[in-house]
Amino acid sequence: MAEPYARVLLKLSGEMFGSEGAAITPDVVGSIANQLAEVVDSGHEVGIVVGGGNIFRGASPRAAGMDRSSADHMGMLATVINALALQDACEKVGLDTRVMSAVHMSEICEPYIRRRAVRHLEKKRLVIFAAGLGAPYFSTDTAAAQRALEIEADAVLKATKVDGVYDVDPEKEADATLYKDLDHHTVLNQGLRVMDATAISLCMDNNLPIIVFNLNPVGNILKVVQGEHIGTFVHTP
Ligand code: GTP
Repeated sequence: MAEPYARVLLKLSGEMFGSEGAAITPDVVGSIANQLAEVVDSGHEVGIVVGGGNIFRGASPRAAGMDRSSADHMGMLATVINALALQDACEKVGLDTRVMSAVHMSEICEPYIRRRAVRHLEKKRLVIFAAGLGAPYFSTDTAAAQRALEIEADAVLKATKVDGVYDVDPEKEADATLYKDLDHHTVLNQGLRVMDATAISLCMDNNLPIIVFNLNPVGNILKVVQGEHIGTFVHTP
């Protein structure tokens, strides 16, 4: 077993918050909160970047014809909705949770202040980073890499609906092969769809590992932070 991770940045896509056509399903968000409680209770510090694709994504065909900056601003607001849903679910299971937004909306949540975020983490509060980076043309994957570096996380945990990174799409090809280990360069050069190129470059340039894993088996987040090798480990050896 590898070293456990004391502080992690977990990237959750918005699609993980809903079911059966609903953008947000409280039971589904509640089960994510249960997993998170297990992780925080075992002493790990967790920051989360949430996506917004279950509600609106700037860089999607649905936004075709729109000004990209306006569409991305809508996507940022979608991430705030998801952040509030996750905060509610986490508080219901007794987790101290703070939402910090890259876009000021003080009536709803705290502004993002790096030092304050780190202090929350030291106090074992879960910190949810909302509104991406507050700038258009940057994905929430890039926000995850950026926030991970700022809070000095030991790794980015990229939660997905499959077991990790495959050579071909495992939902289309039955004989897809799971990569256990990859280096950042290979991900970029082969265009493997782990995170977008900006996010991967940021991680590569700063020697930040990424672990791509399946969120659905209950207990997987804990396994990853405890150093169990599940999913795909992306690093620069
Ligand atoms: P400490 O300073 O470590 O005690 O942290 P704290 O977050 O408990 O204290 P603070 O008094 O800063 O915050 C108390 C509550 O108000 C927390 O739930 C914060 O998330 C919330 N809060 C703080 N600043 C803002 C803000 O600008 N807007 C909103 N909506 N809530 C805020």
